[in-house]
Amino acid sequence: MVPMDPERPNNRKRIAVLASGRGSNFQAVIDAIASGEIPAVCVGLVTDNPGAYAIERAKAAGIPATVVEYARFPTKAAYEEALLEAMRGCRADLFVLAGYMRILGAGIVHEFSGRMMNIHPALLPAFAGLHAQRQAIEYGVKVAGCTVHLVDEGTDTGPIVVQRCVPVLPDDDESTLAERILAEEHQALPLAVKLFCEDRLEVAGRRVRIR
Ligand code: GRF
Repeated sequence: MVPMDPERPNNRKRIAVLASGRGSNFQAVIDAIASGEIPAVCVGLVTDNPGAYAIERAKAAGIPATVVEYARFPTKAAYEEALLEAMRGCRADLFVLAGYMRILGAGIVHEFSGRMMNIHPALLPAFAGLHAQRQAIEYGVKVAGCTVHLVDEGTDTGPIVVQRCVPVLPDDDESTLAERILAEEHQALPLAVKLFCEDRLEVAGRRVRIR
């Protein structure tokens, strides 16, 4: 018999979330864990923003929150060192970037390679970076959506795990489109986390096969 890992009761994965703001995607993950949809335990929230509403969500769910406030560090390197320490402290199998609004440095990306996921509000590889919904409106696309991808060194360039689409309607502006996409994000992110936690993702180069 394989002995039970006390940090992973019932073999559940340990996940930690990085978020900078509102945290509605974080909440979707919390809810999917609570309902038994995702076989994981959420062991921590790490945020760069002491005013993030995500902290309230963590408190309500009994999840420890660690603030590594960007503004308190003299350089990006010093900030990232503290962030890396906070992440290591989580001893997580998976880190979920749910509205974490900074680009991670190469050191962190390498250390957690293959075990970090990000949600982006566009159908990548279109409209990477900031203001993806605005970019979609301005470009005039008829279909938009969201992407959950593994994190590599680029900005929103890692292997794609899940995508979901929405129509762009003639009267849409950035905020109406963002709202429609967000509803899909709340489905896509828990699904991708679930697949990871069930060991169902097989990554071969850029391609992610779902077992
Ligand atoms: C989402 O649109 C996410 O795709 C993007 O930032 C937004 C975060 O929203 N990266 P929330 O904090 O999860 O509510």
